[in-house]
Amino acid sequence: MHPLNIVATAALGISLAGSALGAVAIRPATAVAYRQGLYRAILWNFVPMSEMVRGRLAWNHQGFAQRAGNVAFYSTQLLEGFTPGSITARSEAKPEIWRNWADFSAKMKNFEDASAKLAEISRNGNESATKQAFRQVAMTCKACHDHYRRN
Ligand code: HEC
Repeated sequence: MHPLNIVATAALGISLAGSALGAVAIRPATAVAYRQGLYRAILWNFVPMSEMVRGRLAWNHQGFAQRAGNVAFYSTQLLEGFTPGSITARSEAKPEIWRNWADFSAKMKNFEDASAKLAEISRNGNESATKQAFRQVAMTCKACHDHYRRN
């Protein structure tokens, strides 16, 4: 932490008590950068999988399973990036996220579960089952974006 932030943190004192990670105050810009970075890492893996599913890229079972595992791993780290009220000019998050936290978390859980299932199924190497499971994951992205992401 930058020394000036430590001074600012000390001055703010009690306002830290309720923050998501206990003792550490997370600036909204930091939370936004964290989750956007994760989403970009997810997309980095998601696009080639999508191209394989659509037949625009040669099917590569091992490569697909590797990427599916990456997405499943990243998916479990997203929710904590949505610290209370963390919206900045760069953020595409809608305030409804915090008004409907139970629903937002449930949609995130659906994504985590679908990604875990895809990772597992793709390891078995059945192409049509893998494609089916991929489409299930893609639906969980859309289900959340439709409600909670500005576009
Ligand atoms: C539970 C909700 C939820 C799920 C599930 C979800 N997203 Fe998002 N996504 C968001 C929100 C909210 C933002 C905006 C975050 C911000 O800018 O603060 C976002 C932003 C993004 C971004 C933009 C990142 C940037 O550069 O700013 C990408 C890309 C993205 N999501 C891809 C995906 C993909 C691909 C999936 C599924 C594999 C997915 N998302 C699943 C809610 C979700």
